[in-house]
Amino acid sequence: MRYLCRSYEDFFKPSKSGRSKSSSKPREPPIRPWIEKYRPKDMNDISSQEEVVAVLKKTLESQNLPHLLFYGPPGTGKTSTILALARELYGPELIKDRVLELNASDERGIDVIRAKVKNFARTTVSGSANGYPSPPYKIIILDEADSMTQDAQSALRRTMETYSNITRFCLICNYISRIIQPLASRCAKFRFKPLDTTSTKQRIEEICRNESVNCPPETVDHLVRVSEGDMRRSIMLLQSAYRLYQSEPITKDAMSEIAGVVPEPLIDKLMAVWQSKNIAHIESTVNQVIKAGYSGAQLMSQLHDRVISDAHLSSIQKSKMAQTLGQVDKALGDGASEHLQLLRLLVAAY
Ligand SMILES: Nc1ncnc2c1ncn2[C@@H]1O[C@H](COP(=O)(O)OP(=O)(O)OP(=O)(O)O)[C@@H](O)[C@H]1O
Ligand SMILES: [Mg+2]
Repeated sequence: MRYLCRSYEDFFKPSKSGRSKSSSKPREPPIRPWIEKYRPKDMNDISSQEEVVAVLKKTLESQNLPHLLFYGPPGTGKTSTILALARELYGPELIKDRVLELNASDERGIDVIRAKVKNFARTTVSGSANGYPSPPYKIIILDEADSMTQDAQSALRRTMETYSNITRFCLICNYISRIIQPLASRCAKFRFKPLDTTSTKQRIEEICRNESVNCPPETVDHLVRVSEGDMRRSIMLLQSAYRLYQSEPITKDAMSEIAGVVPEPLIDKLMAVWQSKNIAHIESTVNQVIKAGYSGAQLMSQLHDRVISDAHLSSIQKSKMAQTLGQVDKALGDGASEHLQLLRLLVAAY
């Protein structure tokens, strides 16, 4: 269990004891991940999720917040939105007493839900912060709620109802289907969509300006494309590239390399051997690809894009290939060998 004051940001701040000891030596600037440095500070800072932000702002006006359920793909602003909302409600001080954040790294079995959440939920709230609405309830954020056991989710139903006069829950997850129906139906649901290219590009360009990153426009476009609507991924990749290249210009190829994108000529080669039906040829190409160490999931995603856009394949061929790609992707997700699965894909008829 941890309260908001012990956030990731605090973790990266230099400790007080460290500060006094090293006062005589010049200190390196604290290493701060850009995903935290550029985490939206308030609701207006959230890119691309206009509908969600508009509805939440309306709800804020009435100060009567329902239980919330945020769902959507990674890196689209779910955690950032609830943190920004809480900050707007309580201000930077009161937030420490009024908001409890639990995520998948905390123990969240049935006992925790019964004991800790109940304890936090049942203590009454008092006082308010100057200039902030400070509504008379607490917020419990259950991040990554889809990794909670079914029993723990069931235990939450009662707690939610019992303390609803002084507590609001915000469940956050990637897969809404993993939240049990009785729990989902108690919440107002908000879907977070993958970020559109324009908003991601704007944000990346802003970071490049602030941090003096030498990232030419075509590299920014490429970065936005490979991160597929995941803002966290795009910022992480930008920071990795910056660490490596500092003030040198970052090329498109360098960005692909950092992102683990498989080079197009290799995808061409895989498509050609898939069509060749020559087992020896397939085997040697697969060995080469596996040796190069590309991720299986990345290969499947790029091959899938290529199959869909290939003008020489008929619809029937495309659908057969896509079906095999789906089966292989599922097997890889279940932990199957990348080598065997790639062989299985390329020997499959279509
Ligand atoms: N809509 C957005 N607007 C601005 N920045 C964003 C947005 N979405 C993500 N980011 C950036 O990405 C980082 C991660 O976002 P956040 O933690 O909110 O994602 P998430 O949706 O909770 O992802 P996950 O499902 O993996 O927990 C933020 O610190 C921020 O820098
Ligand atoms: Mg999150």
